[in-house]
Formats: sequence, C-alpha cells, structure tokens
Amino acid sequence: MESDRNTDGAGLSPPFVVLAVGAGIAAYKAVEVCRQLVDAGVHVAPVLTERTLRFVGKTTFDALGSEPAQMSLWDEASPIPHTRLGQAADVVVVAPATADLLARYAAGMADDLVTTTLVATAAPVVVCPAMHTEMWEHPAVQANLALLRSRGVVVVDPEDGRLAGGDVGSGRLADPSVIVSTVLSVLAESTRGTPLAGRRVVVTAGGTREPIDPVRYLSNRSSGKQGHALAEAARSRGAAVTLITTVPASAPSGVEVVPVATAAEMEEAVLSAAPSADCVIMAAAVADFRPRVAADQKLHKSDGLPELVLEPTNDILAELGRRRLAEQVLVGFAAETEEMEARALAKMRAKGVQVMVANDVSAEGVGFNHDTNAVTIYGADGTVKLVKMTSKAVVSGHILDKVQELLPDR
Ligand code: PMT
Repeated sequence: MESDRNTDGAGLSPPFVVLAVGAGIAAYKAVEVCRQLVDAGVHVAPVLTERTLRFVGKTTFDALGSEPAQMSLWDEASPIPHTRLGQAADVVVVAPATADLLARYAAGMADDLVTTTLVATAAPVVVCPAMHTEMWEHPAVQANLALLRSRGVVVVDPEDGRLAGGDVGSGRLADPSVIVSTVLSVLAESTRGTPLAGRRVVVTAGGTREPIDPVRYLSNRSSGKQGHALAEAARSRGAAVTLITTVPASAPSGVEVVPVATAAEMEEAVLSAAPSADCVIMAAAVADFRPRVAADQKLHKSDGLPELVLEPTNDILAELGRRRLAEQVLVGFAAETEEMEARALAKMRAKGVQVMVANDVSAEGVGFNHDTNAVTIYGADGTVKLVKMTSKAVVSGHILDKVQELLPDR
C-alpha cells in the first residue's frame, strides 16, 4: 500500500500518528499533544469531529499538525480518507476520548471520519478518556473500556483534578506529556517488532496482604500499576507473560494471571514459575513482616487490645538470586525514601540480581499508586540509566530495553 507520508532528508519516513480529537472540553489539551508529538519528530494527521469545533478551532490543528486537519468522510481530493489514514497510521491516538466516542468505537460503529478511521486501522490505538466523574464511573463507560482493553487498545487513564464547571474528581484528561510518552512508547514497540518473542517473562505486582484475623490485614500502598504496565509491555514485545499479582482485577489482557494475596503465596507462585522463565521482574511490594499468628476468628474490641507479634517473611528475590539459572535476568525494584542509590546498589548485590530499578517514593508522582514514575535503572554490569518522570508504560519500556540487552542472543 502506498502512503503519502513525508520523508526526511535521508528518505526515511517519520512515524505517522493520527490524532483524533473528540468533542470534549479537554480538546484544548490535544493542541499540546499535537505540538509535542510534532516536536518529537512524528508526522501528525489531526482528525476532528464536527462537534469538536465547539471546543477548539480547526485552524489551530491546521497550523500545528503535519498536514491540515480533516473532518469529513467526503473529501473530494481524497475520496476515502479513512482508509488512507487507517492504513498510513503507525498509531491512532484519541484524545480526548468522550464517553460517546468510546461507546461508538467499542460497538464498531463507523459514521464519521474518527470512527471510520478507528475501525479501518490495523495500527495500535491509544485512547485517552476525559469526562465528568459521574460519566467516568458509569458501568457502561467502564464496560466499553474493558472491552477495548481486551482487544489490545491502550488506555491512558484520566487523572483526578479540577473538571469543567469547577467540580473536582476523576475524569480529567491525562497530562499531554503522559499521553505523548505513551504514544512514543507504543510507536517504539510497534516499529521494533516483537524482540521478546519466544521468551518467558514472570512479573509480580501489587502489595501483599498479611492477615491479622479473617477481616484485617497488614499491607502497603502498592496498586500493581507498575507491575501491570511491565506485564503489558513485555506482552506487546512478544513475550509469554506470567503475571503474579495481588490485584488481578486490573491485570492486562493476553497474559497468564496468577492471583495471590500473601507473601507466602507469592513466593510459592514465583518459585514455581521461575525455572522456565528467561526473566523475572519483582515489581511487587512484598511485606517484609507478617503477624506470627493470624487469629481464626475476628478479634473483638471487647477482648482488649491485641498484641501483634511480627515475624519476617522470606525474601523471594534473594531466593531467586540463589537459584538463578545461567543467563536468566532477574530484575528487582528498590522503593526508597532516602539514600536511594546506596540502598539500591546494596540490594542489587545482596539479592544477586542483574538489574535494580530504584524509585524515590517520597517524591511527588513517583511510585505507589501513581500513573507516573521516575526511576534509575542500575545494571550489575555498571550501567546507570535515569528515567525522568513519565508514564509507567514508558518506564516499563526502558526496563525491558535493559533486559533485552542482557538476554543472550538466540
Ligand atoms: O504498584 P504501584 O502502585 O504501581 O507502585 C509501584 C512500586 C512502588 C510498588 C514499585 O515501583 C516498587 O518499587 N516495587 C518494589 C517495592 C518494594 O517492596 O521494595 P523493597 O525495596 O522493599 O524490596 C526490594 C525488592 O525485593 C523488590 O523487588 C521486592 O519485590 C523484593 N522483595 C522484598 C521483600 C520480600 N520479602 N521479598 C522480595 O522479593
């Protein structure tokens, strides 16, 4: 198929991204997404709906995009613009994706240039929902997103914050820089092909829960987002992924999910999966201590204050390090609040791992329960890579780049 991409001086075509801008108040932020993508060397083809023009002008996208913005299925110069766009696209990104647009895409409807392009493309699709909290939380919206996710669509979740009309809640379009880095990472994966094809990768995610009694437990703030992003990125690169997680409900599609709750259950699952793995990535926040005894029955206030005696859990990663197979790559995480580098390097040595990913979880937007992270990736071979604040998907791409460098050629 012939595309009408621009080429650079060396005759290479830049990656081609269709930026579909839905009709929502956050459409103004798509202007920044467009600009940043063009700055990153991407050819951006903006596509707007009629109703988008109620929020933002076409001229703005004409001026900032790599080609004039398109809106009509009935363009005389190009009678079938949706197939041209769908076929030329390396990625289609929808920002903002309204509840209506998500529903029409999930249902396979194709009655304007945005939806026909989405249905006509075989390229990866990134959707960036933005809407009022009530709409975002509506079961129909969540069901449509789950369906799209199950088809491999990448979803950049909205943030919490100020919404139109002065309300505050979840549903605000993700920051343009997060959208752009996700698109760039999806582009990198799609143009690099599937470098982990034939590899088995085990990833752990979430915080373990150590029971006190049948209704209470000790745990931590891990949401599983970083581990799930890693599992999704490894799957996109062609790996067979086993995800051992304490939050199975939010696991990405296309991976084997092993639900666990306690450190002991995670240990059993990891040690049983590891012998056939090329790489094990311990992103989970495993409890270091657990109650020595968990009460059989619920503890009651009337029985007085219970005395909690703790005992250490086994260090799963250190055990993996002792059992490591030749050429297996073990990746640990270090969640630190001070002396990050020294502590991360000490953990890397003590646990016998090849890669240690350190995050300063005291910094804003870093680590536990955020959609973003900022990490330093230490290699036991002496390499150090700083990854500034970005989406957990992009962080995952950098970690997998290091894993790929260490895996032996086949
Ligand atoms: O889940 P999110 O909300 O997305 O947050 C991501 C994260 C902050 C949880 C993640 O980025 C992270 O830092 N994970 C590791 C957290 C942690 O437990 O760090 P640690 O420094 O205590 O442990 C060091 C390493 O040993 C980790 O790889 C851990 O999985 C492992 N470990 C720890 C204790 C134990 N008993 N067994 C282990 O294997």
